[in-house]
Amino acid sequence: MEDQIEKLDPKDFKRCGNIWDMEKNAGLAGRFYRELVDGNRVTYVYRAGDRLIGEVSLVFDMDDPDYTVKDRRVYMSRLIVKREWSRRGIGRTLLDFAVDRAVELGYNEITVGVDLDNYAALRLYVEAGFDSIVYVGEDDGGRFLKLLRRL
Ligand SMILES: CC(C)(COP(=O)(O)OP(=O)(O)OC[C@H]1O[C@@H](n2cnc3c(N)ncnc32)[C@H](O)[C@@H]1OP(=O)(O)O)[C@@H](O)C(=O)NCCC(=O)NCCS
Repeated sequence: MEDQIEKLDPKDFKRCGNIWDMEKNAGLAGRFYRELVDGNRVTYVYRAGDRLIGEVSLVFDMDDPDYTVKDRRVYMSRLIVKREWSRRGIGRTLLDFAVDRAVELGYNEITVGVDLDNYAALRLYVEAGFDSIVYVGEDDGGRFLKLLRRL
C-alpha cells in the first residue's frame, strides 16, 4: 500500500493517538477535536500502509490577527511526524500539502508559531519560505516566533 495524505474525518480523530500522546495532551486533544467538528480546523494525516505517522492542520480563526485574518491569512498548526519516521522528507511533504490546500482555499498568507529552541522546525519553516517574522514572544514554553509565508 502506498504512502498518502488524507483529510482526517473527525470520527477517526482518535487514530492520531498513533502520532502523538493524546492522553498526556488531553486538553489540546479536546480543543483540536472541537475545532475539527466545528469546521475551524482541517487536519491532513500522512498514512504509511494502514498506520498514521504524521499530521498537519489548517486553522481558520485563531482569534489572533497575527495568525489569522478572515479569507486572507490562515494558520498552520500541529505539524508533527512520528520520531522513528523523521528526516525522510515527510514533514516537508505535509507542509507543502498544507500550503497547497491554503492556496486552493484562496488564502494569500500562511502563518506558523515555532519555539526558538525547536531548531528542526525552525529550519524547515525558513527553508519552506516562512521568511517574515510577525512577532517575537515568550510564554511558558520559552521564546517563540510567529512566522509568515506569502502565497
Ligand atoms: C519538525 C518535524 C515536523 C520535521 O519532520 P521531518 O519529517 O523530520 O522533516 P523532513 O524530513 O521533511 O525535513 C525537512 C527539513 O527540516 C529540517 N530538519 C528536520 N529535522 C531536522 C533536524 N533533526 N535537525 C535539523 N534540521 C532538521 C531540515 O532543514 C530538513 O531538510 P533536510 O533534511 O534537507 O536537511 C519533526 O521533527 C517533528 O515532528 N518534530 C516534533 C513536532 C514539532 O516540533 N513540530 C513543529 C511544531 S512548530
